[in-house]
Amino acid sequence: MSRAYNFSAGPGTLPESVLVELQAALLEFSTCRAGIMEISHRSQPFEDVLQSAKARMRRVLGVPDDYAILFLQGGASLQFYQVPLNLALPTDATDYIDTGTWASKAYAEAKTVSDAKVIWSSKATTYDRVPAPMDVKPREAAAFVHYTTNNTIYGTQCAAPPATDKRLFADMSSDIASRPIDVARHDVIYAGAQKNLGPSGVTAVLLSPWALARVAEVKAARGGLPSMLDYTVAAANDSMYNTPNTFGIFALERVLAWVEGQGGLPAVAQRISGRAARLYAALDASDFWKPHAQPDSRSSMNVTFRLKNGDLEGAFIKEAHAAGLMELKGHRSVGGMRASLYNALPDEAVDALIAFMGEFERRNG
Ligand SMILES: Cc1ncc(COP(=O)(O)O)c(C=O)c1O
Repeated sequence: MSRAYNFSAGPGTLPESVLVELQAALLEFSTCRAGIMEISHRSQPFEDVLQSAKARMRRVLGVPDDYAILFLQGGASLQFYQVPLNLALPTDATDYIDTGTWASKAYAEAKTVSDAKVIWSSKATTYDRVPAPMDVKPREAAAFVHYTTNNTIYGTQCAAPPATDKRLFADMSSDIASRPIDVARHDVIYAGAQKNLGPSGVTAVLLSPWALARVAEVKAARGGLPSMLDYTVAAANDSMYNTPNTFGIFALERVLAWVEGQGGLPAVAQRISGRAARLYAALDASDFWKPHAQPDSRSSMNVTFRLKNGDLEGAFIKEAHAAGLMELKGHRSVGGMRASLYNALPDEAVDALIAFMGEFERRNG
């Protein structure tokens, strides 16, 4: 095998033990005498997978019993539209926190179906920070406040939810399952699976009882919703109104089993924050490196940085790749470097990156 340390921002690295399980299940799953991708989504073996995936999600994330857990398709990008379509009327004030590309895309979609407004933005400082919880000032009439817990492209992360009594909706695509969260404080949480939960093609959506009841009201006022975009249809059919991504849900179930085996989110969070701190310490150690995020907004999932001498960045990425450290190039919209440290990345990968950085600096500093 020649698997490198994979710092990809997503789809990202998956636990090797899970990949081995998936490999076996592709050929023959359980006692089915066929592979996991080849059995009916209505069959008992798949039904068991779906229920287990939901149960693990509930346990791992601490999802209250009365919240719906949905596994949808269309990525987090579809949720940018589906969330306000289902949960706001055209006249409803919907407040958005603009902390980067994905947050502003969510706002752009909300504008088409509600009275959306950006109430806080770090665009002027190239999205190098997130708001302190107290800095978020929603409109009096705000139906909800939408925020992005972790900004994958810029490498910033909210340490805590906004301090407001308004309903909270969160895009948790790039840090879900990396630390304990207060699910009950949120009415809507969604996340594309392809960072910490599994392969792309599955989107996890958590809805509070209030949210599901609100969809029914909005649906009536809008004169109906397209079935495939209607949360109540997805919930009533247990995510199987149409054929779900059966392989993706199976993989997600296995990844969550792996997270449980790691000791759950408190243990994962401790490991993740320790190694991110080591990497930031290396970046702070000399002015050879230029970390992008403000110290109090730094992400433990995506570490973004530049070199003081920008001309060396291409060589850094190329040489790192040759040394077995892949996908360190920053997002195409911002350049520089980005090391994504998702749950499944081994700690040794971060140590290897820090060692490589030291050596690169000695040769070029
Ligand atoms: C925070 C965040 N939100 C949304 C998206 C878009 O996700 P998808 O490609 O699943 O639509 C991404 C993708 O990287 C992301 O990082």
